[in-house]
Formats: sequence, C-alpha cells, structure tokens
Amino acid sequence: MKNILVTGGLGFIGSHTCVELINSNFNPIIIDNLDNSEIWIKERIERIAGQTVTFYQGDCRDKGLLDQIFTDNQISGIIHFAAYKAVGESVDEPLKYYDNNLGGLTAILEVSQKHGCSNLVFSSSCTVYGTPDSLPVNETAQIKDAESPYGTTKIICEKIIQDLVKSVPSYKSILLRYFNPIGAHESSLIGELPLGLPSNLVPFITQTAVGIRESLTVFGNNYDTKDGSCVRDFIHVTDLANAHIKALEFLLDKNEGTCEAVNIGTGNGNTVLELISTFEKVSGQRLNYSIGERREGDVEAVYADAKKSQDLLEWQAKISLEQSLRDAWNWQKTLEK
Ligand code: WQD
Repeated sequence: MKNILVTGGLGFIGSHTCVELINSNFNPIIIDNLDNSEIWIKERIERIAGQTVTFYQGDCRDKGLLDQIFTDNQISGIIHFAAYKAVGESVDEPLKYYDNNLGGLTAILEVSQKHGCSNLVFSSSCTVYGTPDSLPVNETAQIKDAESPYGTTKIICEKIIQDLVKSVPSYKSILLRYFNPIGAHESSLIGELPLGLPSNLVPFITQTAVGIRESLTVFGNNYDTKDGSCVRDFIHVTDLANAHIKALEFLLDKNEGTCEAVNIGTGNGNTVLELISTFEKVSGQRLNYSIGERREGDVEAVYADAKKSQDLLEWQAKISLEQSLRDAWNWQKTLEK
C-alpha cells in the first residue's frame, strides 16, 4: 500500500480525499496545523474508512518536521492542500497569505525532492482565470491578474511548480484547478466547517436555513446572466476528492516528468438564485434571503470546460447538484448551533 502525504488533510477537501485514498488502497499520511480544521475530523475519517490514519500536527513550513515525516515513511506522492483560502481575509492580510501559501509549497518541494519523491498533486483554483474571455473556460485560457492575494498565491504556486519541473525534468505534477466545491460526505460525518462567518455561498445557505444566520444576502442580481445573479460551477466534494485519486494514479503511472493544469468542475453553470431554489426544493425549507449589492471582486460567470479531466485523467463529476445540496444540508443538521 503506497503512502501518500496529504497536507491539510483534516480540512474540507483534504478529509474527503483521505477517505477516497483509503477506498482506493492508498495510505494517507496527514500533516495539518489545525489552523482551519478540527482534530476530531481525524476520528471521523477513521470511522468512515474503518482504519486508523497517521497524523502529524504541524506546519508545512517546518522543514525539520517534513524531514521527519519523509524519514519515518516511504512517501510515494504528495497531495498539497494546506493553504489559507479566504479571499476577503487575503486582501486584509496579504503577507500572511504569501508567507503561508508560498512558504508551505516551497518547503514541501524542497524536502520531497531531497527524499526522492517527485509526484505532486497541487490544489489550485479556477480563480487563476479571473474573468474568462469565453465560457466554458479551458486550461489554455489566459491566466489573468488575480482579484485577491489569495488568487495571486495560486498563480505564483503554479509557476513555482512549472519552473521546478523545467529544472528537474523527472518531477511530475498535476495542478487541479477547482471550481466551487460544495456538499459533504454521504455519511454526514465530515463536511465543510467554516470557522466564524462563512464567506462561501453554500455554508451560508445551510447556516441560514438551520437558524444560525438571520438571512442570506445575494450579492447582486443585475449581472448579465439568466436571472441576474452570478454563475458558478458547483461540484460535490466527493467528486472533487476522486479527481485527486485519478491525478495521483496518472502521475504514478508516468515515467517521464510532466506538469499539467486540469480543470475540476462539472462543466455546468448554475446561478446563485438557482442554487437557492434547488436548496429549498431538496431541504423543504424556505430560505430567508434578500438581494444586496455586488461583492467586490466577484466574477460574473465562470464554469469549466471539463474535457481535459476526462481525456487525461479519465475522471468526470457524477453527483448531482440536488444531491450535493442534500448532503450539505444533512451535514449542517449534525452540527451544533
Ligand atoms: C459564490 C457565489 C457570490 C456568499 C471562492 C474562491 C475560490 C474558492 C471558492 C477556495 C458568488 C455569491 C456568496 C453569500 C452570495 N476558494 N454569494 N452570498 O467567490 O465563487 O469562489 O470560493 O477554495 O477559489 O474564489 O465562491 O461561495 O464565495 O461565492 O451571493 O453570502 O455566491 O457573490 O457569486 P467564489 P463563493
């Protein structure tokens, strides 16, 4: 059974990926500094998967700890999630984002190379496209200046990995550009855990529906879209997790170096108002929401051209928007108010 280092493995996408790694006969080795996750997620992963997972509490910038992990375990590949990801916070605290997101990646690259591990799946984002010139957006689209320091860290991290592969031709990496991850594991044992006020849409919807939040504000309904609200490509977190397994298997099968960016989305766009109406349908709950001003930095519409993920990774999204929102709602109802 191959050991896979999963940085940020107790986070939203990381935890779901650890479950799917075990389902695919890999052994996840988790490092997480618990900045944006909870230690009890480890036990939940173990309960779902039916086996214990190795966990190191610590920061990816700690090269001594990374050295220890690579010495303790024969690591065949890395899935690098660990990064700060709140768009708004990154505008207020850019240095925190550059230090953590860039420093964590360079430390991982340096130590993994030293230990002869050259397979990296990197957690990137469709945010690198900014406002695409055409839709659906594919991987050859121009990388635009990001709307936030968070987005800029994703662009720079992709370039760091691309430059490394140019200098070390045996290095192999897949850059997964996520669209909008939503939902929760079908067991309702793990899911999205925003600390404090959620910035993302779906946790705000479910917290409003369960009574934690008074009401949801829809950030603008005067865009040039079918109902005036923004369009996004919402993908179930379990589908997203499985894309990481496919990317890892692609790298492990490859003999020569590579660096490929791949969109991970459903290929469908839905508006914010469609999401709300779909949530009301699947939950049977009326949602209290109002229309507000546009949010600074929001892109009017973005959704994936999902062809490359099918051709290169033999992966495609399978879970419906309805099921994603049902899973998100079931998860929310397990959380204390
Ligand atoms: C989606 C839509 C909002 C909240 C960002 C990052 C991306 C990834 C996901 C990390 C927008 C609208 C939201 C609310 C609203 N980050 N909205 N009311 O901005 O598409 O993507 O988060 O993994 O890299 O860029 O996601 O969920 O914040 O917003 O109307 O209370 O919902 O305006 O149109 P976004 P989001």
